Amino acid sequence: MSNRALEHLGERYGSDGAAPRFEQWNPVIESLLGHRSVRRYAQKPLPEGTLELLVAAAQSAPSSSNLQLWSVLSVQDVERRRRLSELAGGQAHVRECGLFLVWLADLRRLGDVASHRGVGHEGLDYLEMFVMAVVDAALAAQNALVAAESLGLGTVYIGALRNHPEAVAAELGLPPQVFATFGLCVGWPDPSVPANIKPRLPREVVLHNEQYGAFERSVGAIEAYDQLMDRFYAKERMGVQGSWSRHSAARVESAQALRGRDRLRAALLAMGFRLQ
Ligand SMILES: Cc1cc2nc3c(=O)[nH]c(=O)nc-3n(C[C@H](O)[C@H](O)[C@H](O)COP(=O)(O)O)c2cc1C
Repeated sequence: MSNRALEHLGERYGSDGAAPRFEQWNPVIESLLGHRSVRRYAQKPLPEGTLELLVAAAQSAPSSSNLQLWSVLSVQDVERRRRLSELAGGQAHVRECGLFLVWLADLRRLGDVASHRGVGHEGLDYLEMFVMAVVDAALAAQNALVAAESLGLGTVYIGALRNHPEAVAAELGLPPQVFATFGLCVGWPDPSVPANIKPRLPREVVLHNEQYGAFERSVGAIEAYDQLMDRFYAKERMGVQGSWSRHSAARVESAQALRGRDRLRAALLAMGFRLQ
């Protein structure tokens, strides 16, 4: 294993005891293990062709039945970026990153393909197709993210675009049955504000064998993770109140805790998705 991969694993799990016994390490795995979201960007242009390269990486992702139920929209206009940043809770990185991409779950194109061939498209009215489109969009976006990080670029997803789905759709001129699933900032990380690897739950919490294990088996490991995250929050001066399990539980305590996203189903219905 490379020293860098070992370092990444140590930061990811808070100990190097989590290193898998695996011999064939390579730069792809090293880059994956080194992921960290970047929210501060240097004002430096991206290499020519970056957008096209990231789209090629995205289009190389698997797609359910190769239906390719996703699209991506690049937003460069300064004023539109500013408005999207406001819709996403005022996140400055939406304005400041080199490239801002919006990943779309797109049932519209297949509907148009069917209509163009004189065929109905009732199947698009079902929740299954919406799930397929969101999964396709997410896999494509993550391929683009991995490609960007392999070039040394920084990235962060912007799920907060779902705070105001209809307003985002209007801003981007989305037709019915096209949904902005999330945004993605891409840019050169600001070297004066380095982002660090954020620890994850211990492997045994997320890895089940054969059948789903009871929660009780994970209680101790989650407590240990809370302590690890407390140290991370303090080191990063993130000002997070309470432990990871406390603030994560608070995110689902009530409908209000979803901060407007509790009305997503209604918004999707208004945007032409049937979700049957
Ligand atoms: C779908 C999705 C939406 C996200 N939305 C936001 C967002 O709106 N703003 C933000 O700063 N980070 C956002 N993030 C980044 C997460 O906060 C981040 O991935 C998580 O805290 C783990 O940190 P890491 O990516 O540095 O490992 C999002 C991540 C995902 C996967």
